[in-house]
Amino acid sequence: MIAILSDVHANLEALQAVWADLMQRGATGVYFLGDIVGYGPNPAEVLDFVKRFEFSLLGNHDEACLKGPPKSFNAAATGAAIWTRKQVCPDELKGAFLRRAEHQRRVVNWEYMQKLQPSRRIDNTLFVHDTPAAPGSWRYVTTREEADAGFAAHPDVRAFFFGHSHRPGVWSEKRYQEAEPGQKYPFHERVMVNVGSVGQPRDNDPRACYVLLEPDGFRFYRVPYDVAKTQAKILDCPDLDPRLALRLGKGQ
Ligand SMILES: [Fe+2]
Repeated sequence: MIAILSDVHANLEALQAVWADLMQRGATGVYFLGDIVGYGPNPAEVLDFVKRFEFSLLGNHDEACLKGPPKSFNAAATGAAIWTRKQVCPDELKGAFLRRAEHQRRVVNWEYMQKLQPSRRIDNTLFVHDTPAAPGSWRYVTTREEADAGFAAHPDVRAFFFGHSHRPGVWSEKRYQEAEPGQKYPFHERVMVNVGSVGQPRDNDPRACYVLLEPDGFRFYRVPYDVAKTQAKILDCPDLDPRLALRLGKGQ
């Protein structure tokens, strides 16, 4: 069984809790749909961790770390992107003393990020961070029209998996279904699945969210983690907006 994760956002506690859960359920691999970093307090540790996955995609916050934040980012996201880059870019601390091991760690993680792609197709399944209609555009799938555009862009794809909005749910060509944890969603029609977010859920449920693929369908799982520990790290970091800690407690 393959687990599908998205939007960890440098939240190490949420990622570790999800990893323990998916291992205990018998997952044999992980596909990660992007936004490794951004917002959260442990970008380097999360980058170290995700390299064990089968693949990771590029998210808009990963791109913001690599290239600098876009104008569309709000103040909290912009500040987090600039701080994140300082934590993981090997060239960021010019002239400063970096232990050799730490420098090498940054070089390896930076090269890993630079190679990330915005989509990956495996047989008749397409994985993207944002929208199947235009991977890497950083547009969302939140309306019927946006879902239809994705289905139309890839007529031979049976199943799509994506993240980006941090709100789990399932589009078919006829309807939208809320994500019900533990419920089996069989593959009897074309589906476009938002797998939710591991590290910053926004559906008013603070528990980490992920999807486990089964041979004939998939299920969502929610995993509690030590939110207070992650919040304390954010509040301890002057460059991270304290509202980023508050939202984790609310799942917003
Ligand atoms: Fe995200």
